[in-house]
Amino acid sequence: MMTVIIAVSTMIVLMVSLVSSFQFPMPLLSTSTLTSRVSTSTSTSQLFMAGFGAPAPSKKNIKKGGSNNKSKGETKKVNTTELKNKLLKKVTKMYGGTTPEEITKGTEKRIESMMSSEIKEAFVLRDVCQQFDKRVSGMDFDTIRRKFSNEDIEIAVQNRDKYELYLTENNLSPEKLQMEMQRITWDASATAKACKSLTGTMSTTFQNRVLKASQYAYDVCSSSSASEDDDDKVLDVGCGYGVTIPFLKKVGFRNKQIHGIDLSSEMIDYAKQFYPDIEVDGGKFIADDFYKIGRQQQDTTTTKYRSVLFCSALHDLPDMKTALLKTKNELLDTTKIGSRIIIIHAQGASHVQGQTKQNSLLVPRALPTTDELNDWLCDDNSNDSNDDNYNSSQIKMKLIVEPAESKSEREIREGYLAVLEII
Ligand SMILES: C[S@@+](CC[C@H](N)C(=O)[O-])C[C@H]1O[C@@H](n2cnc3c(N)ncnc32)[C@H](O)[C@@H]1O
Repeated sequence: MMTVIIAVSTMIVLMVSLVSSFQFPMPLLSTSTLTSRVSTSTSTSQLFMAGFGAPAPSKKNIKKGGSNNKSKGETKKVNTTELKNKLLKKVTKMYGGTTPEEITKGTEKRIESMMSSEIKEAFVLRDVCQQFDKRVSGMDFDTIRRKFSNEDIEIAVQNRDKYELYLTENNLSPEKLQMEMQRITWDASATAKACKSLTGTMSTTFQNRVLKASQYAYDVCSSSSASEDDDDKVLDVGCGYGVTIPFLKKVGFRNKQIHGIDLSSEMIDYAKQFYPDIEVDGGKFIADDFYKIGRQQQDTTTTKYRSVLFCSALHDLPDMKTALLKTKNELLDTTKIGSRIIIIHAQGASHVQGQTKQNSLLVPRALPTTDELNDWLCDDNSNDSNDDNYNSSQIKMKLIVEPAESKSEREIREGYLAVLEII
């Protein structure tokens, strides 16, 4: 019993610390809202001192978009003061308070209450396996034999078998477990994050990075090859409560061109509340697993996108390579040249590396390097053509913006941005 409690609570603490380290920009709001934010009461400004949220991108930083959308950069009249007060009350009720400590504790409790007993047990078994893995990490087979008794090795093998059997019996897999933890973590923290987005700030540097990525997404949609009715669409994968929406609008996207998908239905609820005009005007916010949309799912009506954007979201998916291949082969509009995949992480690849070290279940690996992106998506002999799901793929891509290496000087200047294009 004690092992269960320790393994589960260690995992929960790690989950909360991962989401807390994530910098959320806030939705783009009108000038009046910005003024009202300055006069926020002390108790409100104390809320989530670790500080997510962002001021509206300043106009001088915005490259003009090509559409004649009058409401560019503006949300449909959402009364943010009212919304903020409503959210503050909700946060107090849900998390037991509004200080960072109360939010952290409250989130941990919410995660725990959302975890099924099967998930908790899977964690315990996984934890036991990982402890042995850590002890033997870097050792070859002979060294393990020398350092550990036959009995130790036998027990480790049994534990691994037990874990794998448990996953099979409960219709789980490491990927499903990761996905479930993602859903629970973001659902549990959605209200606190959404509230914080109305009170905190995000650095201009990060805003400019998201804006630049949005511009790459828009350029192809506004290019001469775009359809007559300017209806080319962007898909924002792992859109959360709509962090990128103001940036997408600023660069020129119209509401009907914007689709966002997120595994967390709570996050999507906030995206809909913050940006009601998106769906009114024909855009979409979808509460679903990204892996479930597309051709392989016999979903013949799947929308094709000119741009697919992963904004601080690719690293949260269990299998990046599959996600990118799926995007290339199932979601991008390959009937036109230039359709794009844009991957951005404002904090850079080294930030994600740190998260992976902290919690490899939630963030399984580092962001892809230039070589990996070329190998997965661009090489003629890439694994794409060996992949069972995509063995007939003839689609060619080019990496037009290479991402900065982790811990490089360029990373400090630019964060992580990779852009791939259909050629
Ligand atoms: C770090 S947050 C980023 C949110 C937002 N894009 C931003 O830049 O602030 C990652 C988001 O990815 C979502 N996510 C994780 N796995 C997903 C999946 N399989 N399908 C769709 N969304 C997923 C999470 O729910 C979470 O909201």
